[in-house]
Amino acid sequence: MNGVVLRGLAQNNIVRQYRRMVNKNAPFGSVLADTMAIAHFYDGSWSVAEFRKTGPIEIHPAAHVLHYGSECFEGFKAYRHPDGSINIFRMEKHLARMQQSARLLVLPAPDPLQLQQMIMTLIDLVRNIVPEAPGALYIRPLLIGTMANIGAAATPSTEASLIILASPVWDYFTVGMNPLKILVEEHIQRCAQHLGIAKTGGNYAAAMGPTLVARREYDVDQVLFCPDGNVQETGAANFILLRKGRLLTRSLDNSFLHGVTRDSLLVLASDMGYSVEERVFGIQEMLEWVQTGEAALAGTAAVLAGVGTLVHGGRKYKVGTGEVGVETRRLRSALVAVQQGEASDTHHWLTRL
Ligand SMILES: Cc1ncc(COP(=O)(O)O)c(C=O)c1O
Repeated sequence: MNGVVLRGLAQNNIVRQYRRMVNKNAPFGSVLADTMAIAHFYDGSWSVAEFRKTGPIEIHPAAHVLHYGSECFEGFKAYRHPDGSINIFRMEKHLARMQQSARLLVLPAPDPLQLQQMIMTLIDLVRNIVPEAPGALYIRPLLIGTMANIGAAATPSTEASLIILASPVWDYFTVGMNPLKILVEEHIQRCAQHLGIAKTGGNYAAAMGPTLVARREYDVDQVLFCPDGNVQETGAANFILLRKGRLLTRSLDNSFLHGVTRDSLLVLASDMGYSVEERVFGIQEMLEWVQTGEAALAGTAAVLAGVGTLVHGGRKYKVGTGEVGVETRRLRSALVAVQQGEASDTHHWLTRL
């Protein structure tokens, strides 16, 4: 589907017209701000960043990324608060994860200060199109290996481009409130074990086929990958079990993405008096838990989305009542309140613009 481009620099009345024109049910990520940031790495250093019209970039057909998948990215949100300020949620943690992904993909690491400045300048340039809460501006930094060499399967790219895209996203509350149906998959892995902590396209490419098959054959929304029978994560979110006063999720290792939403929810749950357990647990324990407990997916896009049904071994298992549970709603509200400036930012997670 073609995206829509919104004018960040336009005057307010034009912006209002655009807001009316844009379908607020547009799929996540399909509407882009008209300005993007771009910088290039060559001869051992980063160029000065440019802010230009969002659109095609020129890339050599021999570019490393096109053949050997040398790329990584991030995804996080900036929120418009009631006082009109724009607030980026946990930018430092997302950028630290991007540096880690770049190291794992052996890509030239972005200069941390330049990366932050590119993001903050871009958000400021397009601040007019940041939707009111519960909408947000989704920020997508992307790092690609651009060295032109088709014989470099085992040689890292010494050239790279860093691009920052911005995308207004609207009210996805209904997504989180419609209970999801999830296939429990124990035979196929989401990605190579040592790359789970990298946010890189190859991991998503590997999960796409199994996810489409699952959608077709079982009419599910997502696949919960459980290699060796141990619960891990879905294709685009971490997995959390909840019940009154308790939260259980898999302990961190290199095999899955260390979600910033997961981390934030664990901190808030502990503030709210939940006992928070991080450990390896199996499918059987999960199926017993959901007889009376809750399950949810945690990630930047969905925030905390309740699971209503698990499908395993050809059988359907209802999660609790089959609806989004009360603990899921409570924890989701606590996180959203901090993001949207309705609760105080006691952990200093917001960067204000
Ligand atoms: C595979 C995967 N796991 C987990 C997450 C959740 O990460 P975060 O909360 O940082 O968005 C995402 C979303 O980016 C993801 O793609």
